[in-house]
Amino acid sequence: MNGLQAHVKIGGGYDILIASGLISKAGQLLKNMYAGRTCAVITDTNVEKLYLSSLLSSLESAGIRAHAYAFQAGESSKNMDTLSDILEFMAKIPLTRTDFAIALGGGVTGDMTGFASGCYMRGIDFVQIPTTYLAAVDSSVGGKTAVNLKSGKNLAGLFYQPKMVLIDTDTLRTLSKEDYASGIAEAVKMGVITDKKLFSLFESGEAFHNEKEVIFLSVFAKAEIVDQDEREGSVRKLLNLGHTYGHAIEKLSDYTIPHGHAVAIGLAMAVRTACRMGDMEKETAEKIINVLKKYGLPTESPFAAEAMADASMNDKKRAGASLSIIVPKEIGKCEIRKIPAEEFIAYIRMGSEEI
Ligand code: GLY
Repeated sequence: MNGLQAHVKIGGGYDILIASGLISKAGQLLKNMYAGRTCAVITDTNVEKLYLSSLLSSLESAGIRAHAYAFQAGESSKNMDTLSDILEFMAKIPLTRTDFAIALGGGVTGDMTGFASGCYMRGIDFVQIPTTYLAAVDSSVGGKTAVNLKSGKNLAGLFYQPKMVLIDTDTLRTLSKEDYASGIAEAVKMGVITDKKLFSLFESGEAFHNEKEVIFLSVFAKAEIVDQDEREGSVRKLLNLGHTYGHAIEKLSDYTIPHGHAVAIGLAMAVRTACRMGDMEKETAEKIINVLKKYGLPTESPFAAEAMADASMNDKKRAGASLSIIVPKEIGKCEIRKIPAEEFIAYIRMGSEEI
């Protein structure tokens, strides 16, 4: 295979393979683990048209019996009803405890398939085949699974690790400009957290034609973090850089601003705040914001500080509640800072001002 490979140690350990053409080779790659088994391929109505038939023929030629289920594409499908439909689909096939599922799609598909796999018959294997840049660089690795509840995003879920992640870089060619940029935002964030080399690929423009390296460095860095802290008790919190601001923006936009774009704005705000507070040099802050702009990402929040503070507080409004804010210091170095929830509005204000 002319590709790159990373490995996660937790959850029994699993490989992450990154190469062109992996969907049509999936059967070969999964044969050792699953020949003779039955599989539920979970996808959405957009990805179904693009990659499902290639995946199904590859699985069948490797002796894996595959059944496919496609839900209506979009974040609004990420709910308990779709989760229940997926579980009923698994039961009707029927999948047994030694069978497995494949998530073929972006973050919504990966999160729901992982959740369904974690609870169907108290847990069956699952494999991630991400088809968006964001899922490739971030959400397909690390075992966070979830659905949204009426009360909020990702409120029900499990930490449940996949058995393999197959990242077919050809899928990046069918993404809209907006979806492509969403993945860039998460990878730039990862570069700021952990890796000067990853960040420099964006600065130099090399990232435009070396996506394999961008994905590899992102998932390699993520694997190192989740291996130390699967359940986000400590260092995994660093991966939330820009997300406290970003989640408020997504929520206030009624989820019309995509996650990656909201993260880009959140990252820019975190960087401006850090600069104002003397945590980061102005030159470094400008470098990060310029990189986001260069890749077509937004860096300013369309919402007022008061509205953002309200949206991010939720149940944290009670006195004495605290927030863990990720403070960027240098490229490749961030710290976790616990602040009283009431102080976050000052961070938002500083993040909204020119540096
Ligand atoms: N997307 C952040 C994490 O997986 O922890």
